[in-house]
Amino acid sequence: MLNSETPCEGPLTADQVEFYKLNGFLGSVELMDQSEAHMVREELLRIFRERAGREVGEQFDLASHDDDDQQPLLSQIMYPAKYAPRLLETKLATRATAIVHQLLGADAECRFEHAILKPGGYGAATPWHQDAAYWSPAEVHRTLSIWIALQETTVENGCLCFIPNPLGSEVEIYNHRSIGNDPRAHGLELTPDEMHRVNDAVACPLRLGYATIHDGYTLHAAGANQTDQDRIGLVLFGKRAGVPRTVRYDFPWLEARRTARADRAASAVERDLA
Ligand code: NI
Repeated sequence: MLNSETPCEGPLTADQVEFYKLNGFLGSVELMDQSEAHMVREELLRIFRERAGREVGEQFDLASHDDDDQQPLLSQIMYPAKYAPRLLETKLATRATAIVHQLLGADAECRFEHAILKPGGYGAATPWHQDAAYWSPAEVHRTLSIWIALQETTVENGCLCFIPNPLGSEVEIYNHRSIGNDPRAHGLELTPDEMHRVNDAVACPLRLGYATIHDGYTLHAAGANQTDQDRIGLVLFGKRAGVPRTVRYDFPWLEARRTARADRAASAVERDLA
């Protein structure tokens, strides 16, 4: 959610900030030049090839049961800068941090959150969801996600689509469930009875090095990759301290989840303690 006390200074124009407030997302913001974008793409391809972080549960498949012998449908690496520290020295990192400060306030942090590889030909769709459905129900989160295209990103290879909604008007979380109602899948989706909310979706194709920005409560989705080229997205995440909710809120879909990734993360912790 936008911090109203924050002066509107930074890389975004006043019109972009206004659009973000009115719609909960921004469609196309330039973050990197082409040469830096190519370098970032190569670094991410390398860590996907190496399946960096898999043993500690930081590389996993969002859309399937995530078994080790299975071809990933929607492969994700958490905190990619841990495995590719060159990312921290980019103009992208500087510019994204300035945007986070502009939209959320100078005390907000910005980090490299995850990278997603949607393989050519069979990369699964990302169903409609709110990011905040993944997080603690105990607070109202003040966050944004910057989704950066590392090739031209189109409807055909799975660009993001958003449902416009003014910031702050809606901090409700709609009912979610695990993808396909399968508690072993990591990803979440809106339940069928909530799908009436999906109206007037705006698809946001991006050029290489450009990004969309969306609030943690904004409904969004992405299509399958129907091309024969891999589609990579990199997500930076901005966050201020959340505000505790006064009314108790439960997310039964989080309690129902039992994923192979959580099992690997748990056994990594046990190994550390041993
Ligand atoms: Ni999301």
